[in-house]
Amino acid sequence: MASYHPVCSVDALAVGSARAVTVGTHSVALFRLEDGYYALEDACPHQGAPISDGYLDHGEVTCSWHAWCFDIRSGRMILGDLCVIPRFDVRIENAMVLVCDEPGEKV
Ligand code: FES
Repeated sequence: MASYHPVCSVDALAVGSARAVTVGTHSVALFRLEDGYYALEDACPHQGAPISDGYLDHGEVTCSWHAWCFDIRSGRMILGDLCVIPRFDVRIENAMVLVCDEPGEKV
């Protein structure tokens, strides 16, 4: 059964930045954008680079190894439709950022 894990306080991450966190058995890239927090598996689908090390620009992250680019909110590749990075649901509770330990959409 999926559960949510606290990974940092809401103030710990500036808008337009990312950090690597561990959620259960998953390495997760946590992003803070203007409209909230987003979490993707921290492995580029190309060759596994940590996507949390990528270059962020207006809701997109560019992988630091070979420049594949992804929409942070959806995990979808920007140019082409080769792959999608799995997403993790994020919640805010008591000024803490919580990330689900199972990828996929939650209701
Ligand atoms: S490992 Fe990310 S683009 Fe190659």
